[in-house]
Amino acid sequence: MEDFDSASLIEGGEPSEDPKAFRRTLGQFATGVTVIATEHQGRPVGVTANSFSSLSLDPPLILWSIARTSRSFSAFSAASHFCVSILGEYQIDVSQKLSSSKEDKFCDVSWRSGIGGSPVIAGAIATLECSTFAVHDGGDHIILIGRVLQHRRYPGRALLYAQGQYGVADEHPALRAQATTDPKAAQPARSLRDLPLTTLLYLAHHNSSAAFERHRREENISLTQSRILSALTRHSSLSRQAIVRQVYMTPQTVDDALSELLQRKCLNRDDDDRFGLSEAGQMLAHSIRMRLQEYEREQFAGIPADKLDIARDVLARFIDGLAEKIATDDAA
Ligand SMILES: Cc1cc2nc3c(=O)[nH]c(=O)nc-3n(C[C@H](O)[C@H](O)[C@H](O)COP(=O)(O)O)c2cc1C
Repeated sequence: MEDFDSASLIEGGEPSEDPKAFRRTLGQFATGVTVIATEHQGRPVGVTANSFSSLSLDPPLILWSIARTSRSFSAFSAASHFCVSILGEYQIDVSQKLSSSKEDKFCDVSWRSGIGGSPVIAGAIATLECSTFAVHDGGDHIILIGRVLQHRRYPGRALLYAQGQYGVADEHPALRAQATTDPKAAQPARSLRDLPLTTLLYLAHHNSSAAFERHRREENISLTQSRILSALTRHSSLSRQAIVRQVYMTPQTVDDALSELLQRKCLNRDDDDRFGLSEAGQMLAHSIRMRLQEYEREQFAGIPADKLDIARDVLARFIDGLAEKIATDDAA
């Protein structure tokens, strides 16, 4: 295989050799996240889909594809109408519910009935109500083309999906640097301090996770794998479902990460299908913790210890309060 830069090649080959590797290569392409829904025998049916794409302006057409193995396949292949709801940055929970194997995916999801009875998801940043224009074969998927009958756009940032993770669109750091050095391009600086605390927490988490990526790469593990190791350091054994809940990644991404960690012999799986850290897993988790400590020292250098203590105290209270609330909600 000829390669431009074989030293940095992570993986490659014929797709049939390793379908998971093929999927990871495709996952390098960033997309938005949609929920596509229809009505079938009086009930809402829907899936999370990132295969959505615009197709034509005149006539107004869009397309997406659904796996033949999907439980929703027959509903969509026979549907006269469907609605595409483009999810916003705060709708990860909706994406997770609609991509789950739950029986009633629409439970706790707010929606209204649109054209042809197709569910339109509340809080989406855009919706496209369609009639089915054409259906084409697409290997293990079918391609559905919809004619847009009604479109709506709302404010908000898009939820993104790339490299197996959810994300949000942000200005590219290179452009931000340009804006600060080029007086003509200078924009009024939005003070971070004016943002709601929960937004600050989110941004802090997002940026810090991105900055720590270099260390994960050096340890040759993904973000999901590192979250799994961290969850299993806090809990000696966890079921797959509990891991999915703890790491905030899609079940598919978690399954891939679990099987890679098992392959690397970092995990043990007991007879009840619960996972725990093996000796190799504990060593890897330890090495990441060491890197994290070093990284923290660098990041917070120059901030007085008493201020760091206050930040620690506030965060611990916030997390504790939320843990209580989540436990109560789960019990309800
Ligand atoms: C971000 C994301 C994008 C997805 N995109 C698609 C897609 O384009 N087509 C598809 O068939 N499944 C896609 N899926 C998987 C389906 O959402 C999931 O398999 C399906 O909802 C399972 O339920 P079902 O069997 O009831 O259809 C995606 C999942 C996620 C998390």
